[in-house]
Amino acid sequence: MGLKTRVLEILENNRGRSISGNSIANSLGITRSAVWKAVVDLRREGYIIDAVTNRGYCLTGESGLMNERSIQGFLTTEHLGRKLDVFKTIDSTNNFAKSLAQLGGEHGHTIIAEQQTVGRGRADKSFYSPANQGIYMSVIVRPRIPVACSPRITACTAVAVADAIKDTAGIECGIKWVNDIFVHGKKLCGILTEAAVGVETGELDYAVIGIGINANNAEFPDEIRDTATSLFFESRRIINRAELTASVLNHLESRLKELESGSFMNEYRERSILIGKRARILSGDRVTEYDCTGIDDNGFLVVRDMDGNEEHLSTGTILT
Ligand code: BTN
Repeated sequence: MGLKTRVLEILENNRGRSISGNSIANSLGITRSAVWKAVVDLRREGYIIDAVTNRGYCLTGESGLMNERSIQGFLTTEHLGRKLDVFKTIDSTNNFAKSLAQLGGEHGHTIIAEQQTVGRGRADKSFYSPANQGIYMSVIVRPRIPVACSPRITACTAVAVADAIKDTAGIECGIKWVNDIFVHGKKLCGILTEAAVGVETGELDYAVIGIGINANNAEFPDEIRDTATSLFFESRRIINRAELTASVLNHLESRLKELESGSFMNEYRERSILIGKRARILSGDRVTEYDCTGIDDNGFLVVRDMDGNEEHLSTGTILT
């Protein structure tokens, strides 16, 4: 266990109480300045540690939790996450964000929850959302783009999330068309984009981008144990969820500017774990075996069936 982690462990055991640098140093057999250096590093990772003269260090009660202060401290965006609501528990952040968007919720307004009771995924699947472990966030966006470009939003988000995970946790991820982030053959993150078109304008009114990341999960229920992974499993360290959340928003804001040009699509293709593979794909109520040959500029999967006919699939579920 590294020095920083051992210092954190002592601070955790005294959460909310001050403990002197001297006594941390003595119990670890290190100098006071080494304790100080560990505290500086921990603060950089987002832990809120107060230092009070003659009393020592105190890990504040909110440290490691998701709140406005801890997330916004890492934000570099103009709009995304500047308006932020963090709930302890909610049915689904996408449900809440959609209701807000229908009432005129502004571009960038972000909803985060520590737990979802009815976390939703694509195709009526649920998204496992236990308390204080994952990241469950929904962002209202109102990009001024032709409706024809809106299917790109999910692909654009997948690239932003992969970039953020690389920056924050140092892990390279693959993208499993259309909306899943994978590491070592297991699902790490899912994205659910729900959009509405203005009846009168015929233009995209809003999209709610829902992102669920398995961050610090140390276990999964039986049904998904073999198919899901977390950043904790992959890196063996606790991830600062506030920092990762902000990083997703930072990357997403800049990637959304590429929606019309589609310039993020090359990165999406580079990260694709399907191109060059054969897969059984459920599309509508039909299961077909295809060779996956590419992803077009709209984010549609280019496939060839066993008779050699080419199709561009806008949506579908990969069965194998
Ligand atoms: C999928 O796996 O198909 C997509 C999962 C998306 C989960 C996120 S968590 C935050 C937001 N709220 C939801 O109910 N779903 C999305």
